Amino acid sequence: MVFPVRGKSILLIIGGGIAAYKSLELVRRLAERGVKSRAILTRAGAEFVTPLSLASLTGDQVYQDLFSLTDEARMGHIELSRSADLVVVAPATADLMAKMANGLAGDLASTALLATDKPVLMAPAMNVRMWESPSVRRNFETLTRDGVRFVGPNDGEMACGEFGPGRMAEPLEIVAAIERALSDDGPLKGVRALVTAGPTREPLDPVRYIANRSSGKQGYAIADALARAGAETILVSGPVALAAPAGVRIMRVATAREMLAACEAALPADVAVMTAAVADWRPEIALNSKIKKNGDAPDIRLVENPDILAQLARHAMRPRLLIGFAAETDDVVAHALAKRTRKGADWIIANDVSGDVMGGDRNRVHLVSAAGVEDWPDMTKTDVAARMTARIARQLRGTA
Ligand code: C5P
Repeated sequence: MVFPVRGKSILLIIGGGIAAYKSLELVRRLAERGVKSRAILTRAGAEFVTPLSLASLTGDQVYQDLFSLTDEARMGHIELSRSADLVVVAPATADLMAKMANGLAGDLASTALLATDKPVLMAPAMNVRMWESPSVRRNFETLTRDGVRFVGPNDGEMACGEFGPGRMAEPLEIVAAIERALSDDGPLKGVRALVTAGPTREPLDPVRYIANRSSGKQGYAIADALARAGAETILVSGPVALAAPAGVRIMRVATAREMLAACEAALPADVAVMTAAVADWRPEIALNSKIKKNGDAPDIRLVENPDILAQLARHAMRPRLLIGFAAETDDVVAHALAKRTRKGADWIIANDVSGDVMGGDRNRVHLVSAAGVEDWPDMTKTDVAARMTARIARQLRGTA
């Protein structure tokens, strides 16, 4: 599903960060797609890109000053904030996020953010420690609750030499997120979706862990399909070798307990699709140093992991539509029926993993709901994701 964006326009707010140069590329990529950009450059942003290069690329004046008589005469700041179909903040600095989360309006960029009646998409970029600091976390959560959309930040090496989440999303990822935000005919527009995917890793010691063969392909395909249909999608992923789908917010975790915490932090959600193959047990003790070979095999005591699906079913912010998966090697549907009741899910998607489903590209599933069992034909995981997205849209419309 690709939605036409030609003829739409954005207001681009460029904050002060080294990633600002990528926003020039963003303007070019949008222009190629027929999307017009008008730009506000903050004082800090102007330290990284010049108004002249930005004006040349947007083909328009660059707005910089709240109290500029010439700017105000051409277009007042209120009008500016509403002139586009979408407001995009890239790079979104910690400062701009803090201002918007707290309703500050001391300059043109923050005033426009406060005055706009259009959706806002932020592409954060900052040092990893800043991104992970409690105040930025709080502001991020507030903004998410207020309906602000996010693309990135990505993991990677930063201009400051540190490594971790904080790099601004690449221009084409931001373009994809803009296309999604601008697609007003997506069947899941306004819906918040949570997806889990991949295996979990339960450490025994610093070099060994218990895991499983889940590739994450089905969950990533579902997150992608939900986002393409307009849902604001959060993907909580165990360790897999897949790139995050564009426009999806990814939270990477390793253990089941980290996955549970990430899911709870991602609530509220209208729909949750739990495709992750969560390890049922973890070693009771994860040692800090490597277990040595000394002739005897170690005694490893396992304890049960939390059941994330069951915990979300009992959560005060239980998603309206809670979907679990059931990978089985025999009596697939019978087990799924029992699992639906035991875990308190609305639907269980049952699949037979006795063949090469794990890691493969095809899947054959049965949708088990209160209404009965639907047997879906064998199809690709992408097709399962598309069909499930259509069913989710239908279901949510029915229960809205
Ligand atoms: O019990 P079983 O592992 O077969 O249940 C599968 C479903 O429950 C999947 O949706 C899986 O994501 C979820 N699950 C979970 N937490 C666990 C185990 C499974 O959320 N600890």
